[in-house]
Amino acid sequence: MRALTIFTWRLLVVASLLCCVVVSAAGDRRSVLWRGSSIAVEDASSHVLVSPSGNFSCGFHRVATNAYTFAVWFTASADASVVAWTANRDGPVNGVGSRAELRRDGSLVLQDFDGRVVWSTNSSDTTADRARLLDSGNLVVADAAGNTLWQSFDWPTDTLLPEQPITRYKQLVSASAKGLPYSGYYKFYFDSNNILNLMYDGPEISSNYWPDPFNKWWDNNRTAYNSSRYGSFDRRGVFSASDQMQFNASDMGEPGVMRRLTLDYDGNLRLYSLDAAAGSWHVTWVAVARPCDVHGVCGRYGICAYRPGPTCSCPDGYVVTDPSDWSKGCRRVFDVRCGEPVVFPEMPHTDFWGFDFNFTAGLTFNTCRQICLDDCNCEAFGYKKGSGKCYPKISLWNGRVRSVPDDQAIYLKVPVRVKNLGLDPTLLHFGGHACTMDERNTSVGISSYLHGRGNTLNFIYFYCFLAVVFVMEAIFVVVGYLFVFRADSAAAGRVRDEGYSLLVSHFRRFTYDELLNATCRFSDELAKGSTGSVYKGVLEDGRSIAVKRLGELTQADEVFRSELSVIGRINHMNLVRIWGFCSEHSHRLLVSEYVENGSLDQALFGDDGESSGLRLGWRSRYKIAVGVAKALAYLHHECLEWIVHCNVKPENILLDGDFEPKVTDFGLVKLLSRDASSQLALSRVQGTRGYIAPECWTPGRPITGKADVYSFGVVLLELLRGQRVCDWVGSAADDGAGDIQRLVSLLKVNSKRDDELPSWVQELVDARLNGDFNHAQAASMLELAVSCVDGEPSRRPSMNAVVLKLISLDERTSSLR
Ligand SMILES: *[C@@H]1O[C@H](CO)[C@@H](O)[C@H](O)[C@H]1NC(C)=O
Ligand SMILES: *[C@@H]1O[C@H](CO)[C@@H](O)[C@H](O)[C@H]1NC(C)=O
Ligand SMILES: *[C@@H]1O[C@H](CO)[C@@H](O)[C@H](O)[C@H]1NC(C)=O
Ligand SMILES: *[C@@H]1O[C@H](CO)[C@@H](O)[C@H](O)[C@H]1NC(C)=O
Ligand SMILES: *[C@@H]1O[C@H](CO)[C@@H](O)[C@H](O)[C@H]1NC(C)=O
Ligand SMILES: *[C@@H]1O[C@H](CO)[C@@H](O)[C@H](O)[C@H]1NC(C)=O
Ligand SMILES: *[C@@H]1O[C@H](CO)[C@@H](O)[C@H](O)[C@H]1NC(C)=O
Repeated sequence: MRALTIFTWRLLVVASLLCCVVVSAAGDRRSVLWRGSSIAVEDASSHVLVSPSGNFSCGFHRVATNAYTFAVWFTASADASVVAWTANRDGPVNGVGSRAELRRDGSLVLQDFDGRVVWSTNSSDTTADRARLLDSGNLVVADAAGNTLWQSFDWPTDTLLPEQPITRYKQLVSASAKGLPYSGYYKFYFDSNNILNLMYDGPEISSNYWPDPFNKWWDNNRTAYNSSRYGSFDRRGVFSASDQMQFNASDMGEPGVMRRLTLDYDGNLRLYSLDAAAGSWHVTWVAVARPCDVHGVCGRYGICAYRPGPTCSCPDGYVVTDPSDWSKGCRRVFDVRCGEPVVFPEMPHTDFWGFDFNFTAGLTFNTCRQICLDDCNCEAFGYKKGSGKCYPKISLWNGRVRSVPDDQAIYLKVPVRVKNLGLDPTLLHFGGHACTMDERNTSVGISSYLHGRGNTLNFIYFYCFLAVVFVMEAIFVVVGYLFVFRADSAAAGRVRDEGYSLLVSHFRRFTYDELLNATCRFSDELAKGSTGSVYKGVLEDGRSIAVKRLGELTQADEVFRSELSVIGRINHMNLVRIWGFCSEHSHRLLVSEYVENGSLDQALFGDDGESSGLRLGWRSRYKIAVGVAKALAYLHHECLEWIVHCNVKPENILLDGDFEPKVTDFGLVKLLSRDASSQLALSRVQGTRGYIAPECWTPGRPITGKADVYSFGVVLLELLRGQRVCDWVGSAADDGAGDIQRLVSLLKVNSKRDDELPSWVQELVDARLNGDFNHAQAASMLELAVSCVDGEPSRRPSMNAVVLKLISLDERTSSLR
């Protein structure tokens, strides 16, 4: 019977497929996923589940170049980042080889490319028959009779749809930044008083900010006496909850409007309506009318003001911790020692909400000042003239400037000696770090950083340099932050995503002291590069390590999280293994394996002349070429498409005991290139003179893996020649790319001229080898190198093709022997 149904169904599928092919080019759209079948990520654009009315779609949703979530979205929404529900919000899967399957045991699972289950409904029930997307936007797993066994409505992410209730066991969690799926710090939930709340639940503090926490619940028109804890809104846009929270959409009752209630990344809860024709969303209700009232927006010491949009700034004497993420707040440039003389400059109309350690009314200003003076932990006090209300504060959070001036002010505790730092403590006012909160979007960190500089072509060097340093450092620090973050959340007992556990198994967090000891206070410097100095060390367990010190860092972690979940998986024998990280105070260190034989440039062009060249016989050189090609091919193709090394050069190729190459510094990632501007900014990445592909010099041309192919071609030429290409061609007057092109045309002419065993190959290959090399192999490698350094990226071979070619050379030589 079952077999028969499957047979009929298959027939139907074949028939409908035929229909599709014949009638239209439309993709494979359907509303049912049957037991035992799956959706593959490769078909993401066409292969989706669609609700019967077509208003909702479900399938793989792209969140970064090669990172996907399994999500339900609004078919008509023009903004693709708006989704109604996400299965794996904190663990995106790879764009190749991932799939969602309704397994025979009845669970709906999401598998990454390596077969790892990233997410599962956990609802094993062998009567499960199908997964369907309903007109309500609810994804359900049902049995043959249509009974619901599992539904996405029970697992909301940051959005409620009409008729989807919020209850005792559910909460909405905001996204961490605009357009990114990751969980942020804001929550919408029923508290233990049965009241619907908005809460900031950050790594350092947590507090409720809506409804007005100063009021009693009855003043907020809520009730604590209905413990059913249930709230929902209907298609008309009328919301009501058991705590008597009630609101109506401004376009209430308009028929056929699609709505969503979303806890946005900025901590505000908004009801939206979709304009189906234009695909745009309109806010029809908002919970917090004044965005500065949302907690956590400007972080510690940060102050929120309207000018006219909500804007964060730091008081003078404080600097922003991370310009791209104001929620990390500001830090003091001075310290306050207990008992030293201090002054209390006034910041009028300002308040830091909460953290009062002793509230008293009716005090004189001097008494209040004395309370703060007497307590070493007091950082400031608030004082209201007239009523004499005194609020000494142990921590400064949720700062804001009142839009209506009043006579309450904040008095910051500042040491008198700060005058010596050039700051006048009596003149504290808002510093020049203003930045609107909306800039916390995915593109800003990078593009504003780069665009803030000069605009002449001469600055391309500078751009490239900045981008290299910046992107690498940011990535590594984010890895570090992620650990801190994980440690924090683990301590708080919060359940975090599976995606990072892999990361943890690869990385360990080291303390600064541990690394000081391991490196004997950084005494043995191995190398000095643009991204930092590298030191040798030995861990307590006897492993040798290389420790790289990075400079000060600025970038927000959210931006890179998608990439990080992937960088943690990088593991290839020809790539240097990264073992861990240290992030303490201003120290940012990266710990990787120690590779004993130094870098290729030392071995190939080292000062000890003849002997060093001899260390690399023909066989070793061939092995190095293959190893480097494999590492790059892994980065480009197997690992993740968007990892482009961008700085391939002999200095970044290390050699182990057997002269097996290990590529290092593979941190340069072509990041989130969803919007064109960030792609542009990121693509202006520079490697090192002489090794850079020409497209890197031309503004407006995207950088792909083919840039690495070019650099690899140059390295291959140098391996053959045993000499830097720039020394080889003589003139080093221009950028080096022109030289190489001249050299290449010369080589091309030569290779056409000679059809038998070419003598020019003999001339060209490193003289130090004394002719001890395989001529045919060398000629083919030269040919390959020439094709790699082609000025036109599309004519260069892919890294995979390079590997295949090199390996085939080996087979040919062994068969000749
Ligand atoms: C399924 O179970 C795993 C392991 O217990 C858990 O981490 C995951 O959150 C569960 N998934 C759902 C949708 O509940
Ligand atoms: C509570 O309801 C009263 C009467 O409708 C209204 O005047 C008041 O503004 C409401 N309070 C709040 C905090 O919404
Ligand atoms: C509690 O709230 C529910 C849902 O809003 C409502 O149906 C019920 O009547 C309320 N109970 C009381 C005692 O008000
Ligand atoms: C919402 O609309 C309903 C009518 O549908 C009305 O009874 C109710 O008072 C309105 N609520 C608010 C908060 O305006
Ligand atoms: C689908 O969307 C259209 C346009 O917004 C609306 O008119 C229609 O009622 C919706 N259908 C369902 C089933 O919600
Ligand atoms: C609060 O301040 C008053 C006045 O200085 C003091 O008497 C009282 O002990 C303080 N209370 C606490 C809890 O520190
Ligand atoms: C992100 O920020 C940039 C720079 O402020 C701005 O131009 C862009 O429109 C923003 N993007 C979004 C989606 O808000």
